[in-house]
Amino acid sequence: MSQSRRNFVKTIAGSSFLATAIGKDLLTTKKEITLDYKADFNGIEDMNIAGIGMGIMGFNNCRAATSIKGVNLIATCDLYQGRLDRSKEVFGKNIYTTRNYQEILSRNDINAVIISTADHWHNKIAIAAMNAGKHVYLEKPIVHHIEQGMSVVNAEKSTGKVVQIGSQGVSSLIYQKAKEIYKSGELGKLVMAEASFNRQSSNGAWQYSIPTDASEETIDWSRFLGDAPKIPFNKEHFFRWRNFQEYGTGVAGDLFVHLFSGMHVILSSLGPNKIFATGGLRYWNDGRNVPDVMLAVFDYPKTESHEAFNLILKVNFIDGGGEGGNFKLMGTEGVLEIVGNKLMLTKSKMSDSPTYGGWDSFDTFTEAQQKEYVKWFKAKYPNPSKPIKIASKEVYKEPNNFDSHKAHYMNFFNAIMGKEKAIENSSFGLRAAAPSLAANKSYFESRPISWDPVNMKLV
Ligand SMILES: NC(=O)c1ccc[n+]([C@@H]2O[C@H](COP(=O)([O-])OP(=O)(O)OC[C@H]3O[C@@H](n4cnc5c(N)ncnc54)[C@H](O)[C@@H]3O)[C@@H](O)[C@H]2O)c1
Repeated sequence: MSQSRRNFVKTIAGSSFLATAIGKDLLTTKKEITLDYKADFNGIEDMNIAGIGMGIMGFNNCRAATSIKGVNLIATCDLYQGRLDRSKEVFGKNIYTTRNYQEILSRNDINAVIISTADHWHNKIAIAAMNAGKHVYLEKPIVHHIEQGMSVVNAEKSTGKVVQIGSQGVSSLIYQKAKEIYKSGELGKLVMAEASFNRQSSNGAWQYSIPTDASEETIDWSRFLGDAPKIPFNKEHFFRWRNFQEYGTGVAGDLFVHLFSGMHVILSSLGPNKIFATGGLRYWNDGRNVPDVMLAVFDYPKTESHEAFNLILKVNFIDGGGEGGNFKLMGTEGVLEIVGNKLMLTKSKMSDSPTYGGWDSFDTFTEAQQKEYVKWFKAKYPNPSKPIKIASKEVYKEPNNFDSHKAHYMNFFNAIMGKEKAIENSSFGLRAAAPSLAANKSYFESRPISWDPVNMKLV
């Protein structure tokens, strides 16, 4: 029970009326439940894939995909020679490697590509891949700039290829359970939501290791720049591209987008229509041109699947409380919270009748008036219900052997085989990325941004 909830119960329990009313009917239970799953991870028909962008996430993605029987990684593409060599060490020396993604796309024996490049290459490679007949697993955020989003959505439509965006958390059992609980109406009316990421480490703040052999010989620098401003070779820009708006999308594009994906999958929401963000560069003064602290507020309009509500997202890269975060949906009768791989449902339903006493004006009345008031109250509410009808907590956790990243790939491959729909297609991906990128726009332009989540365009 939280401090405020404890204080609230203590306050109301202190009143003369409530001392009798609250009694034994206040139910407080705590249940811990391990979630069950029926997903079939036994394998699929032969699927040849290639990884484009073999950095930290490229390796993670290729490991997750090839953990499914029947999936063969046959080629990798990257701009740093060390990562191409490493992909042979990890996935086998027969893997074909190249610095030119077009070579991958022109091969007829590749069914699907996994794109895990820096953000500024996402749209270009994804569209080229679909036009070359490949299914696409594309890392979040789907695009570098909001305006590029519809071209990816349109390419998915015109080519009929499967697109899965890489916020793998949406395939977790926790989000699916949260969706089920939300749909059942247990939270009452949703009024507010909040989520955050707190970090306190150099890696957490994107100061990734730079190999000692980084040079223009080992790195295809001009290809890396692509459409970005032409500048001389800079290994920090190559290995720590997130720190620079020219290639990355800041904390919003990196992390808000995961929070939106989770929020939207649970609520079946298309997203917010008004965005305001603030923040600053508070600690990591390493030359970056993006903030390391960001707070943003989002207004969600009423839709068929939710009431109008407000969302607050926060990222802090120098949190003195240590690493962590939260994810919370607050309804009038319950709160859903995700902490780590646990989902908690706390329920507290307010009584239909009003209360008196405790922190109230009742005690300021004369004794005679208090007696009169009690008489009046009993006549008006002969059977007052308890102030809090239910107070309970249920905790759900994923089984240890469940891997949401693998499940996300299983869904991708099943979608390619026509057995399921991709949980995170390009429209879903754009609806998660656009408000994140709009938060950047709001921060840099110091103004609220309006977004049309239905038609997916800036207003
Ligand atoms: N889903 C997740 O949980 C998650 C986690 C981390 C990163 N990501 C996303 O994955 C992507 C990669 O992030 P990272 O941390 O692996 O970065 P990284 O810097 O470790 O790797 C990026 C790689 O892309 C390569 N690259 C860049 N442009 C290329 C091009 N035109 N052709 C071929 N290769 C190219 C680079 O050589 C580099 O090795 C980003 O979009 C990021 O947002 C997602």
